[in-house]
Amino acid sequence: TRRITVRDIGLAKERGEKWPMLTAYDAMTASVFDEAGIPVILVGDSAGNCHLGYETTVPVTLDQMTMLAAAVVRGTRRSLIVGDLPFGSYQEGPVQALRSATQLVKEAGVGAVKLEGGERSHEQIRLLVEAGIPVMAHIGLTPQSVHAMGYRVQGRGEEAAQQLLRDAKAVQDAGAFAVVLELVPAELAAEVTRVLHIPTVGIGAGPETDAQVLVWTDMLGLTPGRVPKFVKQYADLREVMTGAVRAFADDVVGGTFPQDEHSVH
Ligand code: KIV
Ligand code: NA
Repeated sequence: TRRITVRDIGLAKERGEKWPMLTAYDAMTASVFDEAGIPVILVGDSAGNCHLGYETTVPVTLDQMTMLAAAVVRGTRRSLIVGDLPFGSYQEGPVQALRSATQLVKEAGVGAVKLEGGERSHEQIRLLVEAGIPVMAHIGLTPQSVHAMGYRVQGRGEEAAQQLLRDAKAVQDAGAFAVVLELVPAELAAEVTRVLHIPTVGIGAGPETDAQVLVWTDMLGLTPGRVPKFVKQYADLREVMTGAVRAFADDVVGGTFPQDEHSVH
């Protein structure tokens, strides 16, 4: 078996095939998704909220992303692994972006990187692609800009829709192999998907994008509290785990674990 490549992803769009993407932050979880046939796994900086206990993605460092991405690469055989460039690791300009992306490629072994921003990030994307590093772009809601934009639907209204279209074309022209559209109206995401020749990956962007991505802890019911409206919850792992952990605790307190079958003599 060989790994899926960005070329395979481009061919899927030509064939009109849709594909799923999930986040992962550790080897064990990633191995489950790999074995289940998820073609693209994103080591997202959503690790900040979902794995490392921060309030936002903003504090996540490049070294943290490198460690998590390396684990995901080690846990998988077939999936294309995309590593997120965290806040502060590419905003200074193309040279900083190349240095950061190179770290993710060399030290973690990812097959591609992702960064946020449309027109504002096109020079970074271009240099990475020229250097041979495939780039997934990310426009619409960009959580690293939470302090400036909040967590609001993007691309509502004619002016904002035109800006989103310009951003989408800018990242395609810069050489991105795919683009995430986060929290944009379904009609606009459909239009972007028709206009671009690279695949669009939607999250909260309706049914017409070429691919769909969800944060794994959201879709498997591990995230505490409410999840966004665009999430479909496919399992309730928090309930499953809580029940199992309580049963273990009760067994220990009540003296019913371990039994003879769990003991050596
Ligand atoms: O970090 C992340 O999980 C992401 C996806 C939501 C696209 O960027
Ligand atoms: Na991210």
